[in-house]
Amino acid sequence: MKLDRKEILKALETITIAGEGKNMVESGAVANVITFGDEVVVDLVLHTPAMHIKKRAEDDIKKTIHDLISADAKVKVNIKVEAKENPNEIKGKAIPGIKNIIAVASGKGGVGKSTVTANLAVTLAKMGFKVGILDADIYGPSMPIMFDVENEKPISITVDGKSKMKPIESYEIKILSIGFFTAPSQAVIWRGPMAAKALNQMIFDADWGELDFMLLDLPPGTGDIHLSIMQSLPITGAVVVSTPQAVALADAKKGVAMFMQDNINVPVLGIIENMAYFTPEELPENKYYIFGQEGAKNLAQDLDVPFLGEVPIVQSIREAGDYGRPAALQTASVIETVFEEITRNVVQETVNRNENLPATEAIKITTMAGCSAVKK
Ligand SMILES: Nc1ncnc2c1ncn2[C@@H]1O[C@H](COP(=O)(O)OP(=O)(O)O)[C@@H](O)[C@H]1O
Ligand SMILES: [Mg+2]
Repeated sequence: MKLDRKEILKALETITIAGEGKNMVESGAVANVITFGDEVVVDLVLHTPAMHIKKRAEDDIKKTIHDLISADAKVKVNIKVEAKENPNEIKGKAIPGIKNIIAVASGKGGVGKSTVTANLAVTLAKMGFKVGILDADIYGPSMPIMFDVENEKPISITVDGKSKMKPIESYEIKILSIGFFTAPSQAVIWRGPMAAKALNQMIFDADWGELDFMLLDLPPGTGDIHLSIMQSLPITGAVVVSTPQAVALADAKKGVAMFMQDNINVPVLGIIENMAYFTPEELPENKYYIFGQEGAKNLAQDLDVPFLGEVPIVQSIREAGDYGRPAALQTASVIETVFEEITRNVVQETVNRNENLPATEAIKITTMAGCSAVKK
């Protein structure tokens, strides 16, 4: 059998890549098609780092050639990702000194997003990384309590002639939180662009110094506010936290879908299952699956994203959170081990992501005037 290059190009004209109006030949995504005998190699150039779009393109090409040309064709697809040149977009500046921004998200509130953020942070620091937390949960900022710095107020310092906010430091973690600028009792309901602007200031106008990881504790849900935040910051990747309950999983799924959306394109590093099971302190071998078993693990499999690990329900996690000292700091504890494994997975997925995908671009919000992170 001998494959014909022109026929293959014609077949590929029936495929459109998500987010690109024209078919993949017309849009220029197909960079080259080479045939030899029953083999065909398609070189594809995409403008999106989204794993699912790459996978879809590859599957579509294979299926189309098999269906329209020959079921026996041996198809190989090479995909290269290039940044899109779009003069209408204002490119967000990469943040000097900050290597990775990891968003920690959940569809549903109360699933332990902040608890996971705090424990990931201290475990990363124990591994020798320089870590910051930006608490972006405008509905319920909890980092000040979890790190026992509720009564601190960031001061303004001058760096290179510019005034900058100095993050509060606790257990070697640099922290800025929306909670530092509002009274604890005050429910803060900010509109998306306003919150994004405040967060922009906490990132760009703060003296973070060198950080290997900045963890972003996002508000729960998948609303406008998330879109604003995500579009304004160059987020390296997202970690989604869920409990095994059906209601939480449904929302986690929406969370993953949000990051993968065309105009967001934040790679999902994986899913963490929190409150996976309950283990009483006096019976450490017993596991009770209170919220159901392996729901988040199965969801990760369904969505084809990595499963990063599970955190049991342990009283000390809750107590440590309230007391203001993340539980993973407790040496030789179950929780320390649990978080070491999860954190290793997060680091590994970040490394994979940085090797395989271009940096995430942010569209810096420039139009909002009259609001400031430093509210009285
Ligand atoms: N694995 C766990 N074991 C015990 N308590 C937990 C665990 N994860 C979270 N909690 C507790 O559940 C409550 C909600 O967690 P939190 O991290 O504030 O959730 P979110 O940020 O998603 O709203 C807190 O009181 C926290 O201490
Ligand atoms: Mg929270």
